[in-house]
Amino acid sequence: ERRAKIAGVGSYAPDKILTNEDLEEMVDTNDEWIRQRTGIKERRIAADDVASSDLAYHASREALQNAGLEASDLDLILVATSTPDHPGFPSTGCVLQDKLGITDVPAFDVAAACTGFIYGMSTATQYVETGAYDNILVVGTEVLSKVIDWEDRNTCVLFGDGAGAAVLTPSDEGGILSNTLGADGSRGNVLEIPSGGSKEPFSQAVLEERSHYVRMDGKPVFKFAVKILGEAAVEALEKVGLDKDDIDFLVPHQANTRIIDAAAKRLDLSREQIYINLDKYGNTSAASIPLALDEAVKDNQIESGDIVVLVGFGGGLTWGATVIEW
Ligand code: ACO
Repeated sequence: ERRAKIAGVGSYAPDKILTNEDLEEMVDTNDEWIRQRTGIKERRIAADDVASSDLAYHASREALQNAGLEASDLDLILVATSTPDHPGFPSTGCVLQDKLGITDVPAFDVAAACTGFIYGMSTATQYVETGAYDNILVVGTEVLSKVIDWEDRNTCVLFGDGAGAAVLTPSDEGGILSNTLGADGSRGNVLEIPSGGSKEPFSQAVLEERSHYVRMDGKPVFKFAVKILGEAAVEALEKVGLDKDDIDFLVPHQANTRIIDAAAKRLDLSREQIYINLDKYGNTSAASIPLALDEAVKDNQIESGDIVVLVGFGGGLTWGATVIEW
């Protein structure tokens, strides 16, 4: 049976750190509120001339190196992002392909907000399992700092910039056991960038309303997240005859420690079985899961044979989970 496995992971975040104390100077907030409500202490911010493809490039180089492959070995590039270099085209996947110095391989973007990396992994898994492609680069990358309203304390304390990447290759056993995806478009308005797209193109009015920035109704997102993290993980496990007791290690979307703790409780997991790095990076949307996975691997938290579950939720609304035999 032909399966897909993760041959290497990598990540990258900009050097510039924005602390909670720095934010106290920008909006009416304080370190204690941010830490207690979210667990976030600091986040990384890209320089003005840095785009999502730049962060993706560094993460991809590292993932390729860890997989023992060259960029020229790739058969497909898949980039998950909500902050593409350009609105529309060229896709960030195409820009990344050029930065990697290769041509003649297909490249495209996946848009599923914070669940983007899981959507990308699921898509890539199908291509590898069917034999359509062998070596696939899946990247989650975001420069959210450029779509955040730095005058809105409800959102600006939550997000950060970063990228994470995985290289998938064919395998005879283990590897990616299952994926599950979900979406509920009827609840899209709780977390959105209202303008700047074809619905309401950028204009002076948009600029004045600041509606080209992220808007979020935090409470419903919180409730949805707590429920769906556990449900998505269990659904993906049940597809292959496993259940929550089989989880060795969980890499959840890094939005909020309270959301992760509540989900962990529902899954009967201890803190040692969960990777959390949102204290350092905030919510990096599509980048958060691969950035956490890469750090967990570097930290030797995952052992060969472990059942690892990646699980995410985000705007759309969307959710998804990937089960891996490491
Ligand atoms: N500093 C101080 N006070 C603040 C801040 C801040 N940065 N932000 C909001 N407040 C105030 C609000 O104005 C409100 O005040 P009011 O009651 O006088 O109106 C109050 O704090 C809100 O407090 P709570 O209701 O207790 O806040 P809550 O416990 O809901 O926490 C939070 C807010 C952290 C946003 C939470 O709802 C949350 O994490 N939601 C999920 C967000 C999330 O995960 N989003 C990302 C989704 S993934 C993606 O696709 C991008």
